[in-house]
Amino acid sequence: MLASRWVPESVDTTLANHARAFDFLYGGQYNFPVDREVARRWLAIEPNLRRWAQESRAFLGRAVSSVANAGIRQIIDLGSGLPTTGATHEVAASLARDIRVCYVDCNPIVVAHAREILAKTKNVHAVLGDIGSPSRLLRIAAAVGIELTLPVAVIVSGVSPLATNAQQIVRALEGVRRVVAPASRLVLSHGLPIALAPELDAGTSLRPFYVPTEVCGQASLERLFGNWTVLDPGVRRIPLWQPLHQAVRALQKPASPPLVAAWAGVAERTSTRTEASAAARSLL
Ligand SMILES: C[S@@+](CC[C@H](N)C(=O)[O-])C[C@H]1O[C@@H](n2cnc3c(N)ncnc32)[C@H](O)[C@@H]1O
Repeated sequence: MLASRWVPESVDTTLANHARAFDFLYGGQYNFPVDREVARRWLAIEPNLRRWAQESRAFLGRAVSSVANAGIRQIIDLGSGLPTTGATHEVAASLARDIRVCYVDCNPIVVAHAREILAKTKNVHAVLGDIGSPSRLLRIAAAVGIELTLPVAVIVSGVSPLATNAQQIVRALEGVRRVVAPASRLVLSHGLPIALAPELDAGTSLRPFYVPTEVCGQASLERLFGNWTVLDPGVRRIPLWQPLHQAVRALQKPASPPLVAAWAGVAERTSTRTEASAAARSLL
């Protein structure tokens, strides 16, 4: 259901926003004509993008269910986009009432919308932060009630830097993996199969870019988990990670590079509590 108030006065709705364009691709209503126009331009370049976006969102839902069912009660969702249309807190709340969610996005417009949308939702926060600064964003998460000495699920799902700035992501995830408590989980899926140019927010530019498999392959995603234990079924193509539907048949259709190129997985920290709490203390 559309929140009654979700557009802050500061937001110019004549300028496109990529997260609202993605909400359109997910099938949501939190978007404007200018966002839909951008999404249609993306689709003209990559007709499989809608399927990729929806499969990616569906993976997010299955992964959130798996961490909630494992008893984890805190989630940090990095590069969250809008908290709409099958978002983390919605899935989490359908399984347990006491799950705390901290959404982090580097785009101030996304965060401004998210704060309006979540204004009446308990235990869910939206904060501005960059995946590239893990210690800063873990501090921000702690400030909204995430206990780094307890298990936490950290999600980086469908975020383009996974594809476009591999080194930054490797370093950032090393930082996150070091400080979270044992039994924490990392949920990862590869980002967009196309790169969106920085001027996208003005709705002006889109550069097609297919992710090279050495950056975006199965092995590269496995490396991002470091020495954590990758949980069943391992790193799989996004629709095939604990599929609930006929994903296998969909993958067999020709010409679906986004689905074929993008991988997903969930891993768990199995190191000792002493090691992890020392690292968390040094951060705070
Ligand atoms: C495709 S959208 C949302 C995907 C969403 N996580 C999902 O699984 O459906 C990607 C989001 O990542 C955000 N983003 C991109 N680079 C980021 C970074 N370095 N730090 C934080 N957020 C980032 C963008 O602003 C955008 O809202």
